[in-house]
Amino acid sequence: MRIYKTKDYEDMSRKAANVISAQVITKPDCVLGLATGSTPIGTYKQLIERYQNGDLDFSEVKSVNLDEYKGLPKDHDQSYYYFMYTNLFKDINIDLDNTNIPNGMEPDSDKECDRYNKVIESMGGVDLQILGLGHNGHIGFNEPEEVFEKLTHCVDLTESTIEANKRFFASADDVPRQAYTMGIKTIMQAKKILLVVSGEDKAAILRDALCGPITPQVPASILQLHNDVIVVADEAALSLMD
Ligand code: F6R
Repeated sequence: MRIYKTKDYEDMSRKAANVISAQVITKPDCVLGLATGSTPIGTYKQLIERYQNGDLDFSEVKSVNLDEYKGLPKDHDQSYYYFMYTNLFKDINIDLDNTNIPNGMEPDSDKECDRYNKVIESMGGVDLQILGLGHNGHIGFNEPEEVFEKLTHCVDLTESTIEANKRFFASADDVPRQAYTMGIKTIMQAKKILLVVSGEDKAAILRDALCGPITPQVPASILQLHNDVIVVADEAALSLMD
């Protein structure tokens, strides 16, 4: 595991974009595993700038997103499809047919999870998976549990996640209670993983994830077992690490 300590969020975003750029340049038809949330927004902005400057070409890139709220249509402004479209896809030359996000409007969880697992499998797996870190240690929407869930599944969101995400909705009652998420085994099968973390409020959970026991109670702790993880985190997020 390599840990890059950055000065601040901007610096984190630039360095994370360097890792993704290197992937796209060395393998133009790579499969990127993408995350939503506030942490990668700056990274995506950097990628857009590099595309606009002519330094990056996404025409052959394929993508799979980690997760999607169950029950939100694509055009809902809080759906993860909408997030990806507005924060990245619309401003780069990725072919939208090559982008994949779980279908939040499929009510049959088994059917949708099975479909999504097959999509990822048919792409030959993920070359570079980008991850943010939840305050409770979640990655994707893999919440603290008794066991690591392996493949795409439908999760009941925890109160802490609903609380953290309610800022994006009119009220906590409007936050969907379930989501589809890629499972831990799929995340761990990515050839390379890039974990981006920013802010003092993530310092304790980042320390637990990187240095604590490997347990499904801290889902990100499983990353300690992956042999190609790059952590790009700012000083504030790394402030509790020795
Ligand atoms: C989003 C995702 C989540 C976020 C995590 C951190 O697709 O998978 O695991 O990465 O909740 O979110 P932010 O970056 O908003 O702190």
